[in-house]
Amino acid sequence: MKVLSGIQPTGRFHWGNYFGAIQQYIALQNNEQSFYFIADLHALTTIRDAETLKQNCWDAAVDLLALGLDPEQATLFLQSDVPEVTELTWLLMTITQMHLLEKCHAYKDKKARGIAADAGLFTYPVLMAADILLYDSEVVPVGTDQVQHIEVTRDLGQRFNHLYEQEVFVLPNARVLDESAKVPGTDGEKMSKSYNNTIEIFLPEKKLKKKINSIKTDSLSVEDAKDPDTCPVFALYKLFASKSDQDALANRYRAGGMGYGEAKKLVLEGALDHFGAARAKREELEAKPDYVRDVLAAGAKAARTKGQEVLHRAKSACGLVR
Ligand code: ADP
Ligand code: TRP
Repeated sequence: MKVLSGIQPTGRFHWGNYFGAIQQYIALQNNEQSFYFIADLHALTTIRDAETLKQNCWDAAVDLLALGLDPEQATLFLQSDVPEVTELTWLLMTITQMHLLEKCHAYKDKKARGIAADAGLFTYPVLMAADILLYDSEVVPVGTDQVQHIEVTRDLGQRFNHLYEQEVFVLPNARVLDESAKVPGTDGEKMSKSYNNTIEIFLPEKKLKKKINSIKTDSLSVEDAKDPDTCPVFALYKLFASKSDQDALANRYRAGGMGYGEAKKLVLEGALDHFGAARAKREELEAKPDYVRDVLAAGAKAARTKGQEVLHRAKSACGLVR
């Protein structure tokens, strides 16, 4: 099975990104073809500072490798290192009907809020379709918010095949990432950069402790019985604890006599333990920048080889190979 997914380098990865996406990508990395890329061309629609974009791409690559993405099994690359993707985007653009893009939510939501959208945001789903079709991808693990874009990808692939009467593109399927893995942030809402409630995976220990201590709780006193099921501290503890440890802490919540401070301490311990190996690996990688650059260069080479083959198919179907 040929698997592909992309993640935007718009900031440091947080626990939501890990449990909701990255962990699940890594679980799929030993497939026949596993391509994971850092979507820097997509990030251009929001990041307009060269140094920030470069730093974010670097951090994303190092984070993914530290978290267990294994370049011996999967191909990791930067989207913009495969320029064929922008060429394919144009071929697809010429067969994309406006109404298909007008209903896509990134653009529609912005328009509804009265914010001017640029053509980059409007045509974003076409670039995403090119990302997927360029590598004959069969399975695309994504969050529910991206399922619409996989539908667009299928529509465009099918329309191209139909118009040029050739099976140029493989039609991919979305694999919806496990929604039960929705991680709450420090305010109890869904953890997200846009809500400013994230806990980044690789925060230095002191800052991590401070972040965890800032998780919002109610004002019950130590003696009071507490409800684990509505408490964000408990929800985060569950990410790191075995079932029996979860039950034990839930019982202590219900019995009273334990303050939230103690539960937060357990979350910190759990996080340091869970990400301990990744944190050590990250430090090692930071000391070996040439290794990381080599991984990305090898990834780009492998992705380009595949991409050039598929682009050639598409160009010959259109009459661009003479
Ligand atoms: P953010 O909301 O912080 O901007 P992104 O939209 O860039 O995060 O998310 C990248 C990936 O991480 C997506 O696949 C998304 O489904 C997943 N993800 C983000 N936040 C969470 C969360 N709180 N719980 C589960 N998965 C999440
Ligand atoms: N649009 C995706 C997001 O914001 C990232 C992305 C870009 C992607 N191209 C992709 C995901 C191709 C899967 C396949 O999360």
